Amino acid sequence: MTNIFAYSKDTIKKAAQIIKDGGLVSFPTETVYGLGANVYNAKAVANIFATKGRPTFNPLISHICELNTFYELSEVDTRAEALAKKFWPGPLTMVVKRKDLSPSLDLVCAGLKTMSVRMPNHPVALELIKESGVPIAAPSANRSQSISPTTARHVFESLGEKVDMIIDGGSCKVGVESTIIDLTTKDTVLLRAGGLAKETIEEFLGEEIIISQGNPNTPTSPGQMLKHYAPRIPLRINITPQEKREDEFYIGFGNMECNLNLSKTEDLTEAAANLFAYMHLAEEQTKYPAIAMAPIPMKGLGLAINDRIKRASYR
Ligand code: TXA
Ligand code: MG
Repeated sequence: MTNIFAYSKDTIKKAAQIIKDGGLVSFPTETVYGLGANVYNAKAVANIFATKGRPTFNPLISHICELNTFYELSEVDTRAEALAKKFWPGPLTMVVKRKDLSPSLDLVCAGLKTMSVRMPNHPVALELIKESGVPIAAPSANRSQSISPTTARHVFESLGEKVDMIIDGGSCKVGVESTIIDLTTKDTVLLRAGGLAKETIEEFLGEEIIISQGNPNTPTSPGQMLKHYAPRIPLRINITPQEKREDEFYIGFGNMECNLNLSKTEDLTEAAANLFAYMHLAEEQTKYPAIAMAPIPMKGLGLAINDRIKRASYR
C-alpha cells in the first residue's frame, strides 16, 4: 500500500503539490473520504470520473477552507451567508448560483450555471485545501455504484493505485455524505439527506425545507433527472464529417477537420475535460446557427460523454 500516507506537514505539502500538478488525492473529511482534484483543472476533474468509473458527469462539490472563497465562486445571498456562518465547517453542501464563469470550472459544474460548495469539518481536509491554494472538487473516493469509504483502507480497496496519494486521517466521524440543499430559488430545497439533520437547518432558518421531488442520484423518471446543461442552439450528435451540414459548428473527435476538436488523439479523458467548455464556446459563436458533434466511442469516459451530450441534444 505504497500510496497511503499518514498525516504530517510533509504529507500535506506533497499532496498539495499533486493537486497543483493535476493529480488525484484522496483525503479524509468528517463525512466520507473524498477523491480530490483542482477544480480549475478540467483534465484532472475528468480523471475523477474516469477513476470512479462514473457513467455520467454529475456536478461535483467544490470544497473550500475559508468563507472568502464562497463569495468568489458564487452569488451568496443573506440566507446562504447565514447558513455558512452557522454550519461551516460541517456536513452541509449548498447549491448556489455560480459567479465564477471561467470555462475551466465548467466540468466541475457539469456546464450548469449553479454550483455546490462545502467547507468540510476536518483539519486534514482544510489544511490540504489551504496548502493547495485552490478549491478541491471531490466526490466520495470509491468506484461508482459501491459504498462510500470511511477509512483510508476502504479507499485503497476500491481504487488501489489509481489515486496518486491517499492521506490517512483515521475513520470519518459522520460516516454519511453531506446534506445538500438548493438555495437557487426562494424556497430551500433538500436535494440529499445527509450528515446534517433537515430539522436542524429548519430550526435555524425558521422555515420548512421542501423535499425535492427528484433525487439526483437515483432518478426514477426523466423529469426527475438532475437539471442538465443544454446549449441554446440545436445540437445534433453522432454526426460524421460527411453528415455535417454547412450551417453547423462542428465539434470533432479524432483526426478530422472541425471547428473545435475534443481530442485529436482520441483521448477520452481529454475529451471529457474539454466537453462543457467547448459546448459553451459553440453556443457563444455567432457564425453558425446550430452545432453538430462527432461520434464518441461508448467506452471508458465515452459513456459519460454520450450520456451528457444525449441530454444536451434533447429538444
Ligand atoms: O459528504 C460529501 O458531500 C462528500 C465528501 C467527499 O465531501 N462528497 C460527495 O460528493 O458526496 P458527490 O459527488 O458524491 O455528491 C455530490 C452531489 C452529486 O450527486 C450532485 O448530484 C449534487 O451533489 N450536485 C452538485 N452540484 C449540483 C448542482 N449544481 N445542482 C444540483 N445538484 C448538484
Ligand atoms: Mg458518492
